[in-house]
Amino acid sequence: MLGVGSAPRAGGGREALRSDLVHVAHLSLQDFRSYPAAEVALEPGVTAFVGPNGQGKTNLVEAIGYVASHGSHRAATDAPLVRHGAPRAIVRAGVVKDDRKALIELEINPGKANRARLNRAPVPRPREILGMLRTVLFAPEDLALVKGDPGERRRFMDELLTTRAPRFAGVRSDYDRVLKQRNALLKSAAAHRRSPGPEVLATLDVWDSHLARTGAELLAGRLNLVEALRPLVARAYAALAPHSGAADLVYKSSLGDVELSTDRGQLAEQLMAAVGESRKQELERGVSLVGPHRDDLVLRLGELPARGYASHGESWSFALSLRLAAFELLRADGDDPVLILDDVFAELDTGRRRRLAEMVAPAEQVLITAAVPADVPAELTGGSYTVSDGRVVRDQR
Ligand SMILES: Nc1ncnc2c1ncn2[C@@H]1O[C@H](COP(=O)(O)OP(=O)(O)O)[C@@H](O)[C@H]1O
Ligand SMILES: [Mg+2]
Repeated sequence: MLGVGSAPRAGGGREALRSDLVHVAHLSLQDFRSYPAAEVALEPGVTAFVGPNGQGKTNLVEAIGYVASHGSHRAATDAPLVRHGAPRAIVRAGVVKDDRKALIELEINPGKANRARLNRAPVPRPREILGMLRTVLFAPEDLALVKGDPGERRRFMDELLTTRAPRFAGVRSDYDRVLKQRNALLKSAAAHRRSPGPEVLATLDVWDSHLARTGAELLAGRLNLVEALRPLVARAYAALAPHSGAADLVYKSSLGDVELSTDRGQLAEQLMAAVGESRKQELERGVSLVGPHRDDLVLRLGELPARGYASHGESWSFALSLRLAAFELLRADGDDPVLILDDVFAELDTGRRRRLAEMVAPAEQVLITAAVPADVPAELTGGSYTVSDGRVVRDQR
């Protein structure tokens, strides 16, 4: 049994000994997705948003996820988040932590820098308020964590890293920038089709060391994260799918079969050596072939990789286990993340539905979306809203 399921709270009450209790008390939207405007009051415990498909349920929880991660779980860019025809979107969340309130405000400007305010005061860079609210979001899209490309799993790791330690937002963007510049250089060298001159090679040397340094930092973060996640994923999977094989994670690096150090300095040297060895090939192909952008997180069930082998039900259980493990890990670090379950119960059979509900019930705040009330498990009673025709109306209890 997962630790999260072991201490049910009576009537959604709070555990007396835990100090950092965080919940979203208010969500306010302006021109976000389908909403010209919306105001939603929220409480600790469970809140369900129920309504027919296409009415704006996911849009609401997506906005809360955006406040936490500055990204969307279903859009690669910000443009689709802004209501069609509007110039920008604004999302405000009132967050209560230990009975202190904070107002987080994000202005989403597609193609331009977003702006952030904390308690109405501008924040120089939105990144600085990452970590004020932490969420773990479960969604139907999570199946891609198991069945999709390595990029899905890299994003899972990197987002979780950033949620745990917001400084990784900087590491990720540094690495992306280095990679882009280095690829541009390799591409232009490849396009010229003759041996690059000493100047190009010297510039490439500089980018190699940047790539090794920032890459090592990201890689070290991921390796630590995966070690911390492994037992939690195994436990969550065993609880969700007791009759299936054991779930495990293996980090697969582009450095091949070398034993990876967990020391950043040594990792940088390992990366530097591998980059050196692949230079000829990189110059021919015009792309960076070594580094964390080429890595994968292999999900294993027993002896086999889940991808390509696991059944639909096993894949679902694995995806849920990754999110549950993320929840456990964040919870062990400090305050409870807000849990968001977007339309996931309808996909599950009765057994897994009940087990998942039991495991998430003790969280400080759980937000659920469902098409019909019957899709909200009985274990998760709480407040509810009906979402239809762009209106979000609280149900009478
Ligand atoms: N940027 C946008 N501007 C206007 N409408 C949007 C935008 N993005 C999504 N929508 C609309 O939002 C609706 C989907 O809302 P969603 O929250 O996903 O529904 P559900 O209740 O099924 O979760 C669709 O009707 C879609 O057209
Ligand atoms: Mg939805």
